[in-house]
Amino acid sequence: MDGPVRLRPVREEDLEPMARFSLEPEALGEFEWTGFTDPRARRRRWEEDGLLGDDSSVLAVVLADDAFIGIVSWRNVSLVVTRGAPRRPSPVLRLEIGIALLPEHRGRGYGTAAQRLLVDYLFETTPVHRIQAGTEAGNLAEQRALEKVGVLPRGRHARRRLPSRALGGRCHVLPAARRRPPCLSRPRRRPRSLGC
Ligand SMILES: CC(C)(COP(=O)(O)OP(=O)(O)OC[C@H]1O[C@@H](n2cnc3c(N)ncnc32)[C@H](O)[C@@H]1OP(=O)(O)O)[C@@H](O)C(=O)NCCC(=O)NCCS
Repeated sequence: MDGPVRLRPVREEDLEPMARFSLEPEALGEFEWTGFTDPRARRRRWEEDGLLGDDSSVLAVVLADDAFIGIVSWRNVSLVVTRGAPRRPSPVLRLEIGIALLPEHRGRGYGTAAQRLLVDYLFETTPVHRIQAGTEAGNLAEQRALEKVGVLPRGRHARRRLPSRALGGRCHVLPAARRRPPCLSRPRRRPRSLGC
């Protein structure tokens, strides 16, 4: 059965509603808003690589009629910090995911559905070992959505609170992660379509 949402690459017509995340505090929401940003930066990157890069990518979240309702993203956080030496890639591939839905589309299960599609897609198309996310302590909707897709508060650090750099340490970020399932030892050659 078709799900309520699909993921697809960002198209030019999505850039205008996406600009709301740069220009409207309410669009990004109280937990993610850290100030105005230049939406033209995203357009420039879209022109360069369609927002699908080696180290970070963005996909559009759309309804069955292809209406844009938000974005999901991921970035490679595998680099190992070394003392004094340049950062080097870790043998363990870790991807950090993110999501933002326009406010009028929240609270209808779309955030959970979109992140479920994203997690499946990343396990199936990349050799990722661990998918992780960091959520502001007060962001209960995102914590619950992640839990429902198996991205769970991390082991003994489950309730550890990390200061949020973006907000000058004012809030706290809770880490969560999901490991690659043993049955998915390597990416499939043909990824399942993104909710189509
Ligand atoms: C966080 C976000 C992606 C969640 O998506 P959503 O579609 O609104 O959430 P869902 O409808 O899938 O709900 C997920 C769960 O959270 C619960 N929930 C929804 N809104 C809630 C709220 N305001 N407070 C507490 N729980 C809430 C739902 O009841 C559901 O749990 P349940 O199935 O046990 O009933 C979305 O609200 C959003 O884009 N927010 C702004 C950006 C953001 O915070 N991104 C997260 C970055 S870490």
